[in-house]
Amino acid sequence: MVIAVDGPAASGKGTLARRLSAHYGLPYLDTGLLYRMVARAMLDGGHDIRDAGAAEDIVSRFDGSAFTEEALRGREIGEAASVVAAMPAVRSGLIERQRRFAAQPGGAVLDGRDIGTVICPLSQAKLFVTATPEVRAARRQKELAGRGEPAPFDGILADIRRRDARDSGRSDAPLRAAEDAVILDTSALTIDEALAAAIAIVERRRAAGPEQPFTER
Ligand code: CDP
Repeated sequence: MVIAVDGPAASGKGTLARRLSAHYGLPYLDTGLLYRMVARAMLDGGHDIRDAGAAEDIVSRFDGSAFTEEALRGREIGEAASVVAAMPAVRSGLIERQRRFAAQPGGAVLDGRDIGTVICPLSQAKLFVTATPEVRAARRQKELAGRGEPAPFDGILADIRRRDARDSGRSDAPLRAAEDAVILDTSALTIDEALAAAIAIVERRRAAGPEQPFTER
């Protein structure tokens, strides 16, 4: 079974996807980290983050083992990742490895922006996790403070709104819920409540019938 978890920045999709992967014993891929790695390599290489040629070159030589998660989680990298993620050559260069991960025997949990729409359109269990921008900004503020990167609420809220606009407005694989995704608004839910709701959704989908075999589009 492939569980696709999509949603905007700081919606709680990463936490939820990790908990779902533990619950079902399935491997987990945080696809945002792939875009963050490309952004990190761009910045480390001294490239202008808008240089699509340099980004394409980096993706063609993509290794992904060079970075610690710590080097990828900062505020600046999230912003830079959403710039490179709008480049079609970056997206197409990362599709294959995501589909390979999803095609593992037994399935997988993937979280991102386009898992249900582009990477695994045939997955049976699709969740689109949302929360209000204010709730997401408060969560991100807490996460950043925990990482020793405190930032004012208003600045984080502005980041979130800008990222939503960029991720939803791009022409290639924009952030949106797949038609067959179930929308889960976590604004008023604790992590345990969100997990229980997500498991109920996955179980409903599983009960609806066997998954179509995973095929490349
Ligand atoms: O945790 P947060 O949502 O802030 O970031 P993330 O999931 O690591 O994603 C960082 C950026 O990568 C997003 O703003 C998207 O622009 C991009 N992304 C994407 O385009 N497609 C994905 N499947 C995952 C991330």
